[in-house]
Amino acid sequence: MRTKITELFGIEHPIIQGGMHYVGFAELAGAVSEAGGLGIITALTQKTPQKLSDEIKKCRQITQKPIGVNLTFLPVVEKPDYQGYVQAIIDGGVKIVETAGNNPAKWVPLLKDNGIKVIHKCTTVRHALKAQSIGVDALSIDGFECGGHPGEDDIPNMILLPKAAEELEVPFVASGGMNDARSLVASLAMGADGMNMGTRFMVTREAPIHNNVKQAIINANETDTRLVMRPLRNTERVLNNKAVEKLLEKEKALGSEISFNDIADEVSGVYPKIMLEGMMDAGVWSCGMVAGLIHDQPTVKELIDRIMLDAEILIRKKLSSMLSN
Ligand SMILES: Cc1cc2nc3c(=O)[nH]c(=O)nc-3n(C[C@H](O)[C@H](O)[C@H](O)COP(=O)(O)O)c2cc1C
Repeated sequence: MRTKITELFGIEHPIIQGGMHYVGFAELAGAVSEAGGLGIITALTQKTPQKLSDEIKKCRQITQKPIGVNLTFLPVVEKPDYQGYVQAIIDGGVKIVETAGNNPAKWVPLLKDNGIKVIHKCTTVRHALKAQSIGVDALSIDGFECGGHPGEDDIPNMILLPKAAEELEVPFVASGGMNDARSLVASLAMGADGMNMGTRFMVTREAPIHNNVKQAIINANETDTRLVMRPLRNTERVLNNKAVEKLLEKEKALGSEISFNDIADEVSGVYPKIMLEGMMDAGVWSCGMVAGLIHDQPTVKELIDRIMLDAEILIRKKLSSMLSN
């Protein structure tokens, strides 16, 4: 399949694996790129720029095809060494960066001067237009159903994607709730040039996370996610567990008085315990509503091949057969 996104990034299939904290390691990103999609290493999971350089090298041993690195700008306790991470990306020869969180304006010129294409992930058309105006090459439009940070406007993809298509000039991919060929074909119909998946890629053989996490997603229903940190305007969609219930009780009790310190036990430094050690109640972790549609654990290649084959059948046979002559 050829779309503006496959052309822009030099990839075979219009499928991107979004940056994911403690999931987007070399093994997953390498497998996605090797299967013809775009795999993305999550920079901030690597504690130092040197460690990011090592991870990029490790990924290069898995694939020679294009890979990307995610740079997330979110409120965090200690400000990361962004300059160092950007240098590691440039020195590592990575030609695609996914930015997310705050406005990436400070870093776009440096990235572009080094021949790096920037895809910015955001949750509103307003932010997408802003990112387009500062020169990003593409956007990843993350609907309200997404795992992670859906923003504060709560616009689901059935509205967000056609609206983005009406207003944007640069190509964009649909993100949030994407799972299979149906998601891809629907995204293309709504004006996107591909799709970005997070939660779905967690449940693949190559995702280097604990099996408890994968099993929790397989067991989950579409009604099992919760929104946390809404009062802090840092909303995150997570899979419900004991830590989430505790955090929500604190939000209810403290109301608008709540601060980050009040919930540090549930949110701070919990990812390694959950993703690597499989301690499922150790804290809150991002997960999309799409968990309700995930029932198996294929290899990345099986997943991507299945999506592309089913998309072709859907477009050529099912949809066109509905047309009367
Ligand atoms: C466990 C997990 C961790 C994530 N961490 C990040 C992150 O560090 N930076 C980022 O930009 N997005 C992050 N995301 C969001 C994904 O890149 C992607 O936008 C989102 O998962 C899409 O929604 P979906 O899960 O419904 O596919 C994360 C998502 C998950 C599920």
